[in-house]
Amino acid sequence: MTASPDRIELISNDITQLRVDAIVNAANRSLLGGGGVDGAIHRAAGPELLAECRTLNGCETGQAKITRGYRLPAHYVVHAVGPIWQGGDRNEPELLAACYRNCLNLAVANNIRTIAFPAISCGVYGYPLDEAARIAVREVRSFLANEDRIETVYLVCFGEAVHDAYRQALQEEAREERRADGTSR
Ligand code: APR
Repeated sequence: MTASPDRIELISNDITQLRVDAIVNAANRSLLGGGGVDGAIHRAAGPELLAECRTLNGCETGQAKITRGYRLPAHYVVHAVGPIWQGGDRNEPELLAACYRNCLNLAVANNIRTIAFPAISCGVYGYPLDEAARIAVREVRSFLANEDRIETVYLVCFGEAVHDAYRQALQEEAREERRADGTSR
C-alpha cells in the first residue's frame, strides 16, 4: 500500500487481502470469532489467531486488543469491539468513537504506520451507516492531526452503501474544515 498525501484513504477491498501493518477486526466481547469481517479475518489468518485470542480474556465494548496476523498479509490484527446499536441513547456514539481512538493508540504503541478499518458496528451490530461514518472520519482525522507516526489510515468500504456513506462523511468534514478556515482568517 502506498502512503497517501491525505493520510485517510477510502478503499473497497476485502480487508483480509490488504498488505498493511495492521487490519482492524470488528469483533465481539469474547474475541473468539464470529461472522462478518470477524469470520473472514479468522478464516484467512488461520487457527493460530483464535489460539492467541483465547489468551486475551475477551475485550470490553469500545476497547481494542492486538494480536499477530499469522497467515494474513497484515502483520497485526487489532480487535475492536464496537457497540450494538440500540437506538442511540446507550452511549453508542461515544463507544464507537472510543473504538477508533483505542485502535489508533494501540497502533502507535506498536509502531504500526498503516492501518485499515472496516466499518465497525455497521453490519450485524446495526449501527446506522451515515452516523458511524461521520464518527469514524471525525475520530481518525482528529487523531492524525496530533500524531504523525501513523502514515495512512485506510477506511475499507465493503459494498456500495458503505463507500457512499464514507465519501459523504469525508466531503462533509472537508466542507466544515473550509468553513472553519474561512472564519479563522
Ligand atoms: N472486508 C472488509 N469489510 C468487511 C468484510 C471484509 N472481508 N466482511 C464484512 N465487512 C464489513 C461489513 O459489510 C460491515 O460494513 O464490515 C462491516 C462490519 O460488519 P460486521 O462484520 O457484521 O461487524 P459488526 O457490525 O461490528 O458486528 C460485530 O458480528 O461477525 C460478528 O463476531 C462479530 O459479534 C460480532 C459482530
